[in-house]
Amino acid sequence: MSTELGESNAKERKMKAAWFEQPGDASDVMIIGDREKPQPNAGEVLVRIYASGVNPSDVKKRGGLQSTGLDIAGFVIPHSDGAGIIKEVGEGVDISRVGERVWVYQAQYGRHWGTASEYICVPEKMAARLPDLVDFSVGACMGIPAMTAHRCVFSDGDVAGKTILVTGASGRVGHYAVQWAKLSGATVIGTAGNDHRCRFAKESGADHVFSYQEADLVDRIMQASGGKGVDRIVEVEFGDNIETSIQVLKTSGTIATYSSSHDPKPVLPFYPMMFNNISVQMVLVYNMSDEAKNHAIEDIYRALKKKQLTHRIARTFPLVDIADAHQSIESNSADGCVVVEIK
Ligand SMILES: NC(=O)c1ccc[n+]([C@@H]2O[C@H](COP(=O)([O-])OP(=O)(O)OC[C@H]3O[C@@H](n4cnc5c(N)ncnc54)[C@H](OP(=O)(O)O)[C@@H]3O)[C@@H](O)[C@H]2O)c1
Repeated sequence: MSTELGESNAKERKMKAAWFEQPGDASDVMIIGDREKPQPNAGEVLVRIYASGVNPSDVKKRGGLQSTGLDIAGFVIPHSDGAGIIKEVGEGVDISRVGERVWVYQAQYGRHWGTASEYICVPEKMAARLPDLVDFSVGACMGIPAMTAHRCVFSDGDVAGKTILVTGASGRVGHYAVQWAKLSGATVIGTAGNDHRCRFAKESGADHVFSYQEADLVDRIMQASGGKGVDRIVEVEFGDNIETSIQVLKTSGTIATYSSSHDPKPVLPFYPMMFNNISVQMVLVYNMSDEAKNHAIEDIYRALKKKQLTHRIARTFPLVDIADAHQSIESNSADGCVVVEIK
C-alpha cells in the first residue's frame, strides 16, 4: 500500500467528535478532535449525524450532577438525541435501510457514544425514520422533548375530550405536550414563566395560558376548566406545584411528571391525594417501555409527515462551539431546543 493511500484510509477511519473525560464546566472539560469511526456490529446501523440535540440531562451528566450510567471511567461523547442518514448496516439489518433519513434517540444512555460526533452506531430500533423534507435539526429534538411529552400526555390513556394542564408549557417538553394533547382533541391549559413564554405557549396551541406565578392561579385554572378541574397534569416541577395540583385535579386524576428539579425531595400531601384517588405517573424517557416508545415513534412519524407539529429551535451551534451550546441550556437562555450542527 502506498503511503498516500495508507494516509487516506486512516483519514476515512477517523471522525470529528466532541467528548469529555471527567465532569466539569463545559468550557473546561469538552474536547473537540478526531476519534476512531465506529463500525456497526450485528443489529446496528452506522448513522452520519448532521444535527445533535442538547438537553438538560446531557448537560447535567457532563457537569457531574447526574450519572452517565457508565460503570467504567473513560470518554463520553455527549447527547442522546440526533438526526442524520444511515450509511452502513450491521449483520441482520436490512440493507435497504442504507440511505434512510433517521432520528436517533437514547444514544448516550449508559453508553460512551452519543450524537456529538460525525458518526454513531446504534441498535437499529434506535434509529427511527425521519420523513423527507423534515430538517435534521427538527429530528434532533424528537428523542427527549417530543417523546417525553408524548408519554406524559398519553401514559394514562387517550385524552380526547379531556382537560389537560401542561405546566411549563413553553419549555422544550411542554411545547410538544401542548401539541400532542391538542392533536388528540383535549382542551389544554398551560402555565409558563414570563409574558413572552406565556405567548409561546399560546402559539403552541394551548387554549388558556397563565403565569405560574399568579397568586390566583388555582382560581384561574378552575375557571378555565368550567369549574370542573383538570383530568390530567403534565408536570415539569412536581414539588413546586403539588399544592396547586391537588386543588385543580379532578377525582381520579393523574399527574404525569418528568421533573422536580427545584424540589427533588417533595413532601406529598398524602391524604388529599388519597381521598381524591390521585395517581402519580413518573416518566423517565430513557427507560419507558418499548410499547410506549413505539407508540411515540409511530405518532411522531405520522405527525411530522403531515406537518402537524411546530418546532422551536432556539439556537444552533457548530460542533466547535459545543461548550456554548451547553452553556445556553445551563443559563436557561434558550427558549426552545438547542442543536449542534455537524457539517
Ligand atoms: N424525566 C424525563 O424523561 C425528562 C425528559 C426531558 C426533560 N426532563 C427534565 O425536565 C426539566 C425540563 O426540561 P426542558 O428541556 O423541558 O426544560 P425547559 O425548556 O427549560 O422548560 C422548563 C419550563 O418550565 C418552566 N417552569 C419552571 N418552574 C415552573 C413551575 N413551578 N411551574 C410551571 N412551569 C415552570 C420554565 O419557565 P421559566 O424558565 O420561565 O421559569 C421553563 O419554561 C429538566 O429538569 C430536564 O432535565 C426530564
